[in-house]
Amino acid sequence: MIKAEDLVLPSVAALKPYEPGKPIEEVQRELGLEPVKLASNENPLGPSPKALAAVRAALNELNRYPDGSCWAVRHKIAARHNVSADHIFMASGSVEVLNLLGFLLLRPGLNAVFSEHGFAIYALATAAAGGEARAVPMKAGYRFDLERIAGAIDGNTRLVFLDNPNNPCGTIYRRPEWESFLEQLPEHVVIVADEAYFEFVHDPGYPDSLRYHDGKRLIVTMRTFSKIFGLAGLRVGYAVGRPDIIQMLNNVRQPFNVTSLGQAAVIAGMDDEEHVRNTLRVNAEGMSYLEGEFVRLRIAYVHSHANFVLAEVGDGRRVFEELLKLGVIVRPMGGYGLPRHVRITVGLEAENRQLVSALAKVLATA
Ligand SMILES: Cc1ncc(COP(=O)(O)O)c(C=O)c1O
Repeated sequence: MIKAEDLVLPSVAALKPYEPGKPIEEVQRELGLEPVKLASNENPLGPSPKALAAVRAALNELNRYPDGSCWAVRHKIAARHNVSADHIFMASGSVEVLNLLGFLLLRPGLNAVFSEHGFAIYALATAAAGGEARAVPMKAGYRFDLERIAGAIDGNTRLVFLDNPNNPCGTIYRRPEWESFLEQLPEHVVIVADEAYFEFVHDPGYPDSLRYHDGKRLIVTMRTFSKIFGLAGLRVGYAVGRPDIIQMLNNVRQPFNVTSLGQAAVIAGMDDEEHVRNTLRVNAEGMSYLEGEFVRLRIAYVHSHANFVLAEVGDGRRVFEELLKLGVIVRPMGGYGLPRHVRITVGLEAENRQLVSALAKVLATA
């Protein structure tokens, strides 16, 4: 009997699906305890109360299909970025954009370039389309080497994926590196500036990729409502790009890719500056507490510009498993080529304290 894997691209048959952060429900089932989840870079404060109210109000219309064109959301986002609405593509989480770009632009013989320790979906989206994944080593300090990334681009490159800040390291590249990188770019390459953690960054040298959309270069900027806006469960993200590439994405997406609840939540919650301010405050306080505790416990960590931090703990898998037993979910990093690290999302004050006390116990028994 013919097997399904014989009917698909070899790169697809060989794929290992994305391993998400361990869900709270799974830990409840397996260990019978109520864990703290610091594993998926979610907003520990939850969604904006305005978004929640809008979702409740929209519940009675669940019998209706959503607006497949996302007209209102797209126009609102376009106004925020000072572009026309045909520059905006709404997606079921920004990962949908990554998958669609791979599907559109890659096939056997073509390649995508990204950094070692880049966001895990880049390799998956590339393999799913049969493209070659070119992972370029980082430079010291867990930073992207944009010069080497530019050097890895050739006539068969169609995509370059850059997460700035990078997940899982939390590092950024700055304006001079980015600008000289852009100057070296051939015309046939689409640059994906994945800015999922954009709102958390306060470094004055951080480049907002939207300022580099000059109508000639093919830059696709990705943003999401899953992180600072606290709507990961609703799955809404978007891409900003030249109308011709946005049109191609629309050609291949499913017709109702963003739910009515997602659209309602974004329209109501997007301007809730108080919620954003509170989130930034909780994140900054939590990050400085965690950094202080890492120093005290002699744990090496990478200084992060986002809402998570990469900590070197020895055997990352063991530490992940031991922390689980103590009711804290973090993310082991073996899948990212960092087996000695775990990635910890900044939580609420009590959650951070629970993590630190559990981590101290686990490391004491190493
Ligand atoms: C760098 C990066 N890009 C994209 C995403 C995807 O976010 P979403 O699909 O929830 O919008 C994530 C999520 O963790 C991320 O870390």
